[in-house]
Order: sequence, then structure tokens, then C-alpha cells
Amino acid sequence: MLMVTAIAPVNIAVIKYWGKKDAQKNIPINDSISGTLSTDVMYAKTTVYTSSTLEKNRFWLNGEEQVFEGTRIHSCVCEVRSKSDETLPHLTWNLAICSENNFPTAAGLASSAAGYACLVYALGALFKLKDELSSIARVGSGSACRSMYGGWVLWQKGTSSMSNDSVARPIASHEHWPEMRVLILVVNDNRKKHPSTIAMQNSVTSSSLIHYRAKDVVPHRIKEMHLAILTKDFRKFAEITMKDSNQFHAICLDTYPPCFYLNTVSQAIIDLVHAYNDYKGEHVVAYTFDAGPNACLYMLEPVLEEFTSIINYVFPQPADIHDNDYFRGLTLPRKP
Ligand code: PMV
Repeated sequence: MLMVTAIAPVNIAVIKYWGKKDAQKNIPINDSISGTLSTDVMYAKTTVYTSSTLEKNRFWLNGEEQVFEGTRIHSCVCEVRSKSDETLPHLTWNLAICSENNFPTAAGLASSAAGYACLVYALGALFKLKDELSSIARVGSGSACRSMYGGWVLWQKGTSSMSNDSVARPIASHEHWPEMRVLILVVNDNRKKHPSTIAMQNSVTSSSLIHYRAKDVVPHRIKEMHLAILTKDFRKFAEITMKDSNQFHAICLDTYPPCFYLNTVSQAIIDLVHAYNDYKGEHVVAYTFDAGPNACLYMLEPVLEEFTSIINYVFPQPADIHDNDYFRGLTLPRKP
């Protein structure tokens, strides 16, 4: 009997991945950049157990048993096994996999990124595989390949749809920009209505904006963002982050039928951030939204206290944080 437990954090993209060249292998149509959060806040925890006496493969997510055969979890297990030393005695034993997130699952908060990164890391430890883990995590969920590393991470689209060079690599460590903070505002913790794989494919086939973005916007933005991170230029970092989030959601609207991830509270948060930045006379807070209404706000430590108190004033915490009805009908905040 062998058992491995791992934890992996979420990553929040500042240049978004949206659209696949190869849906099976999750090869993206554009490069992306993200920051990986520290492991003490939002993370997935996965235990992989194997024994010669296990009768079948089984998988639990947040305490509920899920289908295993034919899923992306199964594909990751097959990929790790196929690349591992075939003389390992436990290579063919069945597995029991238990995964949980300490934050809302599938609510547009990168739960699949943390979940698959964690699974692949644990499988790698179980089967003594160190190389190629990023490309295997990518097969589970594209953005998972970025959660294999801490700090600032670039995921390259690779040179062709057949290639295995679509991998993530770190571009700066967590210590490089120690003043950076991320504030996550959970607007709604329900599961997203448009799963990202289906929505991305709809965007690729129906939006013209997505192809313009991949070809003419992202390559330039990646260079600018890389430089902004290396030089710790928060103003530039914030401007690109917000523009890129907005363009991603514009593509969602340009998709037919459209997918709406942001709601009125998300829009109120966007207005508040712009009003606060105007008031400060420069970009000191940056918002970014994934495939859901929840806001991820990047800022530097000196801004955190004042901005958090404004957030608490404008959006007072409900008594029951799961009561999403609370937020309905909220009016836009006034400019300070
Ligand atoms: O990895 P997926 O299939 O969950 O897609 C993630 C897509 C976004 O979160 C919207 C953007 C990103 O780069 O993380």
C-alpha cells in the first residue's frame, strides 16, 4: 500500500488563456501569464492511495464520489503511468483519489487549475516522475499547468497542435515582488453556468474578436506584461491586467450565443476600482475576472488596508456569506 498527499494553490491569470487549438490536449491559441497564490489561502488538497487489493479506480471530489473512467482525471493517470518507469511494481495497481478544495468549486476561481496541478504532482510523487508534469497537468485543465509553479508563470502556446512544447515556466519567483497582494471577492459561489471548455470552443467557432486578440493583441501584451513584472512596474501591470480581463469578457459577449460571466456586482466592483484609481491619480488596484462573477484584485501592500476598508464599506459582509440574494439590487458605488 502506498499513499501520497499534496496541496497546490490556485493561479490568477493576468493575461488570460481563452480558446484551444487542440481541445483534447488543451493546446491554447495564445500564451498566458499568471500569478500563483501562496499555499496557505486557496488550495486543492489531494490524496492518492494505491494498493494491490483495490478492486477498481475510484475518485471523490469534496467528499462525493465521481465517475472516474473516461474522464480527464483518468487521462492524467494514464499519461503519468505511460511516462513512468514500467518496472515499478505498483504501476498497474488501482487508485483511490480523494480531492478537496478549501474554496468554492467551479465558480470561476481556478479550482480546476489547483485540482489538476495537485493530482498530477501527487501522481508524479507516487510514480517517481519529475519531468513533463506541467504538460500532463495541462491535459487535465489548461490553466493547471501554471499552478505547477509558484510566483509568476508564463504558459506558452507551443509551436504546433501536435507538439508537447505547450508548457508553463516560471518567469519570476514569489519573492521577486514581495509587496504584491491579491484580494478575492466572492460575489457568487455557485457553479458557473458555462463550463470553460464548451464556452471556449463556442468562442473559437463564433467570435471574430478572439482570433484578432490571439494574433494581434496577446503577443504584444505578453512582452509588456513580462517586462512590467520584471521591473515591478505596477501601473503598467494594472493597466494590462484590467484591459486583458475586459477583452476576455468582450469575447464572451462576442460569442454566439453569448456567455455572461460578470453580473451587476462585478460591474460595480470594476467601477469602484476605476473610481479609486482616479482618486489616487494612478493605477494602484487592478481587477481581473475569470469565468465567473468573482473578482480577483491585485494591489501592493501599502494600498491593502485602505482599499479593503472601502470594500467593506461599499459591500458590507452579509450575515450569511452564502446568501447570494443579498447582493441583488445593489446600486453602483459613488465616486469618492
Ligand atoms: O483551465 P480552464 O479550462 O479552467 O480555463 C481557464 C480560463 C480562465 O480562467 C478564464 C483564464 C485563465 O487563463 O485562467
